Amino acid sequence: MLNRSTIEEFILLGQKYYYDIIIVAVFSLGVTLLFSKAWKRVAISWRGQIPGRLGLPFLGETISFLSATNSTKGCYDFVRLRRLRHGKWFKTRIFGKIHVFVPSTEGARMIFSNDFALFNKGYVKSMADAVGKKSLLCVPHGNHKKIRRLLSDHFSMNSLSTFVHKFDKMLCQSLIKLHQRNKSFPVLDFSMKMTFDAMCNMLMSITDDSLLEKIEKDCTAVSDAMLSFPVMIPGTRYYKGIKARERLMETFRGMIERRRRGNETHEDFLQSMLDRDSYPPDEKLDDLEIMDNLLTLIIAGQTTTAAAMMWSVKFLDDNREAQDRLREEQLSIARNKQSGASLTLEDINKMSYGSKVVKETLRMANVLLWFPRVALNDCKIQGFEIKRGWHVNIDATCIHYDPDLYPDPMQFNPSRFDDPQMPYSFIPFGSGSRTCLGMNMARITMLVFLHRLTGRYKWTVDDPDTSLEKKTHIPRLRSGCPITLRSL
Ligand code: HEM
Repeated sequence: MLNRSTIEEFILLGQKYYYDIIIVAVFSLGVTLLFSKAWKRVAISWRGQIPGRLGLPFLGETISFLSATNSTKGCYDFVRLRRLRHGKWFKTRIFGKIHVFVPSTEGARMIFSNDFALFNKGYVKSMADAVGKKSLLCVPHGNHKKIRRLLSDHFSMNSLSTFVHKFDKMLCQSLIKLHQRNKSFPVLDFSMKMTFDAMCNMLMSITDDSLLEKIEKDCTAVSDAMLSFPVMIPGTRYYKGIKARERLMETFRGMIERRRRGNETHEDFLQSMLDRDSYPPDEKLDDLEIMDNLLTLIIAGQTTTAAAMMWSVKFLDDNREAQDRLREEQLSIARNKQSGASLTLEDINKMSYGSKVVKETLRMANVLLWFPRVALNDCKIQGFEIKRGWHVNIDATCIHYDPDLYPDPMQFNPSRFDDPQMPYSFIPFGSGSRTCLGMNMARITMLVFLHRLTGRYKWTVDDPDTSLEKKTHIPRLRSGCPITLRSL
């Protein structure tokens, strides 16, 4: 039996170690909770089920998704928060559809290598109405193969030598003007204009400023309509996009007719398509296929490349060592050329550090955050059960920031690309049968831009704000990354 003094001693001891006891209790509770959560996750994944919250039948987590999209943290914040809550694999429900975010190279391999067989791009009515049913983004497998084969030739590295020359000339002139103006300008506005004009020139030889302006305005309206609610009510994004598409089709049709009548000839992408008029059906595109894919190429190529150009400026500004090293390489290439000479493909091929800067920019910027597909049948990805009709999103951002694949992933370090990458660990342009058609063009555009920017100028970023533009699925700085140019 305990006597009175033992009890008193015990109480005294309790008072003396009061705080220690509380700390130990709170710590134990925390550890228990953590373990039970982790155990729950493991138990769920052992059963092949993907953790996550589906919420109410149609609504699910749509409101949280929309609020992330409407915030300056960007829509990927929605994914980041759920990953913290549920673990790397999670599912959610947005606009009535179940989405699984696939965070691994193995998952990416499984989906990319079964494109069209087990998975397909989800059919979105507004997208098909905006870019057209014969667009590469919407056609079924057989047609996709044919259209891709006929378009691909023009985007191979060797076919882009004229593009290098033209883009370089245009870029140099614009940079000189901006430098002479000696005023701050947003890189994003500049890169949007440059990429748009260069693409229209390469595809259809359009150089007239007022026509370029008109087409760009309509392309933006079409692009905005791609993910809108498909109701034809005046004033809505969908309505404006469909009307803009009609105007664009009229312009393209007029150009095709003038060329067929022999009133105009050019050496460009459109001409090479029309030169196939007498070929068998399998070896040529019909007029609607040509027009829908002209529009698709402009829309797929402009905003993506322009955003990547803007991020390259931002990352190089934050990492002066990489900027200096890039400048050194570009100056040594420039020194071996006659003054005023245009860049060539051979010069581009010499930009070994520049290519790593481009890769590191694309890894960190994640211009396309994830690549959506729909499961055509019930299946398993890495043991996780996927039901037919579920959306599986290859989460390129998660893969590109995985510390096991990219140590110290938040650090901009182009030299990490000295080593070869694991399969499916570097996927800014996707992979498999839907790999980006314009990836060579995008790389060249960025390299020419970086050559002229670092080889002739220094710059200061005039707004340090890192918040992102709202309501967009392509991450871009809200400020547009304003800079002022100074001569070297
Ligand atoms: C930095 C710039 C670019 C990035 C990051 C990018 C990224 C991508 C990605 C990830 C895909 C595949 C999406 C998926 O699998 O769902 C894709 C497809 C595509 N891209 Fe790009 N792209 C860029 C520039 C361009 C340019 C310049 C063009 C055109 C000239 C272009 C045209 C296309 C087309 C037509 C497709 C669809 C291919 C198909 O479905 O077969 N892209 N792009």
